Amino acid sequence: MKALILSGGKGTRLRPLTYTGAKQLVPVANKPILWYGIEGIVAAGITDIGIIISPETGIEVKNITGTGDRFGANITYILQEKPEGLAHAVKIAQPFLGDSPFVMYLGDNLIQNRLTPFLNRFKENHLDAVILLRQVENPTAFGVAVVDETGRVLNLIEKPKVPPSNLALVGVYFFDQTIHEAIAQIKPSARGELEITDAIQQLINTQRHVEACTLDGWWLDTGKKDDLLSANQIILDECIQPAIAGEVDSNSQIIGRVQIGSGTKLINSSVRGPVVIGENCHLEDCFVGPYSSVADEVTIIDAELEHSVILQGASITNVHQRIVDTLVGRRAKLTTTPHRPKALRFMLGDDSQVELT
Ligand code: G1P
Repeated sequence: MKALILSGGKGTRLRPLTYTGAKQLVPVANKPILWYGIEGIVAAGITDIGIIISPETGIEVKNITGTGDRFGANITYILQEKPEGLAHAVKIAQPFLGDSPFVMYLGDNLIQNRLTPFLNRFKENHLDAVILLRQVENPTAFGVAVVDETGRVLNLIEKPKVPPSNLALVGVYFFDQTIHEAIAQIKPSARGELEITDAIQQLINTQRHVEACTLDGWWLDTGKKDDLLSANQIILDECIQPAIAGEVDSNSQIIGRVQIGSGTKLINSSVRGPVVIGENCHLEDCFVGPYSSVADEVTIIDAELEHSVILQGASITNVHQRIVDTLVGRRAKLTTTPHRPKALRFMLGDDSQVELT
């Protein structure tokens, strides 16, 4: 069994944050989204992993993620020159995949469920494909499935205008080698891409065995700001154990589950967990409230924030209203003049600067 993780694309939905970075590397609780997928795959016993990368962000994905050693896996990077669809990615990965069955995982998806039960069902029932489904409120934004009461998949449509159900395709799929024949038979969709949804429909049309499992845990497609903040909240809730490596002075207070990385200084500040703060940060006269992730080398002075994600090297100074539901890009600077503005709500991209006067 192998794994194919898709980490290409241009990340247009998180612009401007991903003009300069891969959306799969945006951190959730200070860890790149992509790494959660890799860890889930390795936890299911699969260590031979191919990662599809794009010319725009591939180098960064490769540099940060490495050879796979840190995960106990062996990673092969496969370049997809143009974003020609998920099925196209499988096509170009064929030399890596060979005749092996594989799990395909979209690198910006996060799921709570462990993969092992789905993998077992795929293997034990000798299926050609297993797809994962979850009920959603906005099925027009996804691939949508119609299934019978036994879980057999009858019909699939990519981004339907009139959805036949509210069951969306989650970005995790299990395939055997028959998917390659199916992909060879499909044509690009209206958006000009070879859709994996169409390839699975082709499996169904040729009487292959495709079954669906419904997710009972959460699923986050982190392509958008609010999804990313929810993912951050859920992961902080479930995964953060207290660990203080930095320096906390006697005027500072730490309440609840808080992680503080080495080299970070906390001066006359309060942190109320769950919160994760990276390495080499400077926090002074500030409050960092629940569900916040602060990456490495961030400066926060005379400011308050909660339920926010602050990326590496950003600085927030002299902001006297509480910053909430906010995503601040790498190296962004946020500050105010002494006149207090009325309300603040931001989505700030890498290198941006904001002054509220
Ligand atoms: C892709 C798939 C879609 C699926 C979604 C899950 O959509 O084409 O069927 O529901 O991932 O994240 P895309 O992210 O390419 O719009």
